[in-house]
Amino acid sequence: MEIMESSLGLIVRGCVAALAFATLTGASAADSPATATIHADQPGAKIDRHIYGQFAEHLGRGIEEGVWVGEDSKIPNVRGFRNDVVAALRELHVPVVRWPGGCFADEYHWRDGIGPRATRPVTLNTNWGGVPESNAFGTHEFLDFVQLIGADAYINGNAGTGSPREMAEWLHYLTSDKPTALTAERARNGHPGPWKIAYFAVGNETWGCGGNMTLDHYVDVFRQYATFLKTPLGARPEIIASGGHDEDTSWTEGLLARGGADLGAVSFHYYTIPGELWRNKGPAIGFGAEQWVSTLAHTLRMEDFIHANTAIMDKYDPQKKVAFAVDEWGTWYDPETGREPGFLYQQNTLRDAVVAAINFNLFHQHADRVRMANIAQMVNVLQAMVLTRGPQMVLTPTYHVFRMFRPFQDATFLPTDLQTPRYTLGNTSVPAISVSAARTAAGAIVIALVNLDPGKAMPISLSLPGATPRTVKGEILTASALDAHNTFDNPDAVLPARFTGASIKSGKLSLTLPAKSVAVLNVE
Ligand code: AHR
Repeated sequence: MEIMESSLGLIVRGCVAALAFATLTGASAADSPATATIHADQPGAKIDRHIYGQFAEHLGRGIEEGVWVGEDSKIPNVRGFRNDVVAALRELHVPVVRWPGGCFADEYHWRDGIGPRATRPVTLNTNWGGVPESNAFGTHEFLDFVQLIGADAYINGNAGTGSPREMAEWLHYLTSDKPTALTAERARNGHPGPWKIAYFAVGNETWGCGGNMTLDHYVDVFRQYATFLKTPLGARPEIIASGGHDEDTSWTEGLLARGGADLGAVSFHYYTIPGELWRNKGPAIGFGAEQWVSTLAHTLRMEDFIHANTAIMDKYDPQKKVAFAVDEWGTWYDPETGREPGFLYQQNTLRDAVVAAINFNLFHQHADRVRMANIAQMVNVLQAMVLTRGPQMVLTPTYHVFRMFRPFQDATFLPTDLQTPRYTLGNTSVPAISVSAARTAAGAIVIALVNLDPGKAMPISLSLPGATPRTVKGEILTASALDAHNTFDNPDAVLPARFTGASIKSGKLSLTLPAKSVAVLNVE
């Protein structure tokens, strides 16, 4: 990607639009300090905790082995869910999990995944490696799992190979409190009462693996399927339409214009792919500064995409009733040599931690509309929180960022004016600093800071009109190598540490943010 810029050190509001300008000058780095004004006196929207959501698809070892090992496994488990992964995810306060796909969702028939496990049919996972799917982890297991980790359920329905009847019956099975044949079957399968389903989507990537539909056709499909998604009063999930991706805003426009009254949210997918898209994505480890900055520049495009889509939404829905759900995001690199390419297993480095933090800052800045996001994916797939190898588990740098950002869940966004130098390498340039801030329910101000520069520490001075800061404490995640990562033999190579480098003088906060780092500060 090539980006043009006219000047260095431009002022951007909360980093907004920073990517709209870049430079074609040679390699350069930041010299002057960054400054930021956090408007504690101008609180904005609530940062919906659901932007910290996860995505778990029947893909590779994402569910089987990653989450589900079965009750008879030697790996310690509760009702078949591995204890180590459940405990790690509980720590993150995961607000929502999207399941069963992805592309898998549009070939998933929910009845294959209910009833005694021994009698469930073995089907084929045609999207991911062409492997047999045992269906051992089905509706009851998913809902048991989300309850175990304390998350809401987001179910993605099948609009590709299913039918309105199949989808309607699934939702009836899940939510009805009336004595019907389906609820009796649910009771026989071990769950007499209804579940609460927070979100339900009609298809996935219906412009691609979900059916290669035209927009007009899908708008009709959405309206038709959504009509039959009936539940008891007050139990209806937010209904999500399968939306666009990358720079294509036509799906958002079409759905907002013609999607009808059932439309609760429009989904959006954007992956950070540093190389030449699907041909040569680049490696997950063993990369240099060029791939570092290219990755971060690609990540920052999220800002343009959110901006373009939400501007359209504002035109049709100025009251912001319909949410923008970024229900697939994260890094996607080349598969590791020797591994099944269809399983999308990749290592996760400090670079991924920085990518996650930048995305969170962007989501915060659009908290009024971006009300859910789901990283792809939770365990062993793409930008994962957790990697497993048999009985072993390792927490990734991305995991640590999710944990560090927990105070932002349901906090109130505080707008920030940022003046930052840029980091430039070749013809790629990114703002050196990314920032966002919020006020927690307890009254503290939380500030997330990212130094995108791979080689230079950055002095930062922050003023907070509307607040009288007295104490500051925080955590920092950094490492010496760009591709520092945790392995099964060295699981603590990248770990957050206490950050004591910030001080308060005359109401101003100052600190020096180490190169390639993510910090979260708590100011009281
Ligand atoms: O996350 C992997 C895949 O990426 C999903 O199944 C699909 O929706 C997207 O293309």
